Amino acid sequence: MERIIVIANQKGGVGKTTTTINLAAGLAKLGNRVAVVDLDSQGALTISMGIDPYIVRPSTYDLLLDAEVQFSHILKNSSSGLQLAPANAELIAAEYKLYSASDRTSRLRKKLQQPREQFDFILIDTPPNLGLITVNGLVAATELLIPVAANYLSMRGVRSLLDSVWLIRERLNPRLKLLGVLPTMVHPKAPHARSAIYEMQSVFKQKVFRTYIPYHEVAATAPAARRTILEHSPSSPVATAYLYLAKEVSHAK
Ligand SMILES: Nc1ncnc2c1ncn2[C@@H]1O[C@H](COP(=O)(O)OP(=O)(O)O)[C@@H](O)[C@H]1O
Ligand SMILES: [Mg+2]
Repeated sequence: MERIIVIANQKGGVGKTTTTINLAAGLAKLGNRVAVVDLDSQGALTISMGIDPYIVRPSTYDLLLDAEVQFSHILKNSSSGLQLAPANAELIAAEYKLYSASDRTSRLRKKLQQPREQFDFILIDTPPNLGLITVNGLVAATELLIPVAANYLSMRGVRSLLDSVWLIRERLNPRLKLLGVLPTMVHPKAPHARSAIYEMQSVFKQKVFRTYIPYHEVAATAPAARRTILEHSPSSPVATAYLYLAKEVSHAK
């Protein structure tokens, strides 16, 4: 059965996009057929995968707004061999255009019914807010992964995020499960990073992944080279961590 994982956190800069790309790369390396969906108008995922968001068309904007456009129509082969549903700046307008539609929260879900046989995993990257676009991701998904930067401020938003997520689950998507909370950007030697992970574990218990993502500069150099960290720097601690995460995710039920 196909699994659709939405990566969300209303805080920016916590590693959503990095996690989407590199978890996808890890899952593909384990032999899965993987597609990634960019729902952020900034197109960071799209750029990092070697596609120019200024000229790319059709995109997730068309997928959400045009009934005729199917998921397969917008997929591009990324430089790393993953299938990508790209985003461009048009997506900013989608939020407003969707607003008056009665099916405004389930557009993406409908479009992801089709490719069920084609992929083992679809990963959805979301913008740093809980607007309609992110809600479309949460309604389309079967599972939620929340990256949390391991510093003392970033835990604060996670509880309110989960409150909203449970409301969405109750009203719009009862099948949505919390796959896990992922500590990211962990400075291996910093005591505050350790205590942030302990705090996550005391709140979210066994829902915190055993894998955590260490802080390392390859996370910034790989996207500039338009490659995944797994390709760009396969022996780096970040690549190793994302491959571990992929194993943890593929074993999770
Ligand atoms: N493990 C990491 N170590 C160091 N820098 C990271 C790491 N993960 C992400 N980054 C960098 O932090 C910034 C924000 O990451 P990103 O994945 O874009 O977060 P988000 O999508 O949540 O805004 C990017 O510049 C990215 O390259
Ligand atoms: Mg992002």
